[in-house]
Amino acid sequence: MTESCHIPEALLAALRDARHVCVLTGAGVSAESGVPTFREAQDGLWADHDPLQLATPEGFLSDPELVWSWYRWRRELVAEVEPNPAHLGLAELAELVPRLTLVTQNVDCLHQRAGSTDVIEFHGNLFADLCFDERRAVDCDADDPAPTCPSCGALVRPGVVWFGEAIPEDALDLSFAAASDCDVFLSVGTSSLVYPAAGLADIARQNGAVTIEINPEPSRNDFDFVLENKAGAAIPALVSSLSS
Ligand code: APR
Repeated sequence: MTESCHIPEALLAALRDARHVCVLTGAGVSAESGVPTFREAQDGLWADHDPLQLATPEGFLSDPELVWSWYRWRRELVAEVEPNPAHLGLAELAELVPRLTLVTQNVDCLHQRAGSTDVIEFHGNLFADLCFDERRAVDCDADDPAPTCPSCGALVRPGVVWFGEAIPEDALDLSFAAASDCDVFLSVGTSSLVYPAAGLADIARQNGAVTIEINPEPSRNDFDFVLENKAGAAIPALVSSLSS
């Protein structure tokens, strides 16, 4: 699989010299594990539902049972898949460079399951349960169709960032700091359309980082290097070139 992926020597040199590598991942990294993107997951069973009903605070408050059944369905789906060579390779890459910050837009926990630590979850976590009012993690009855907070009685919601919602403050601050500080920025499997995540590459570039995109359908034309490959081929190829 790795032979088909050519890694330019200058790209490898940038990684070898890097003090701090910042990686941003998107849905493309989990595609080879079989995780459907938000839009793909709306085929079939959920095709008739408006995204604004399923992924906004207003939609949730208007029908929490419906929204919970959608998120429970997605939890089951994601729990059945495995991390792929891209997730595993990124965990290995962290061992090969002095410092690596991994920011993900994915909510599926596959980076953590592959062994990555300190993952910054920019769009939250599919498996977290949060009190709607207090925004803190709570334990709730997994079988309740619309669970409520054991301390304040408010509805409990899935811990993902919905349309129109702010990025969690810690995730935003840590990601912006990493993008400003890194000397190599690696964008993997994201369409670079959704801000503020898509702006991290601009911050890195403005601060002098070498920028790299891995995507079989490159998203923009302003990266210094583009590997037009699937992440599951390109990341292991990068790791094996760096280790040899
Ligand atoms: N390897 C690398 N990239 C891939 C692969 C693969 N095997 N397969 C697909 N891609 C690329 C596609 O070419 C596309 O550019 O992954 C990208 C996926 O784009 P999106 O579906 O828009 O996902 P993402 O960029 O993560 O979306 C950002 O939007 O839907 C919201 O909140 C959700 O976090 C998500 C955000």
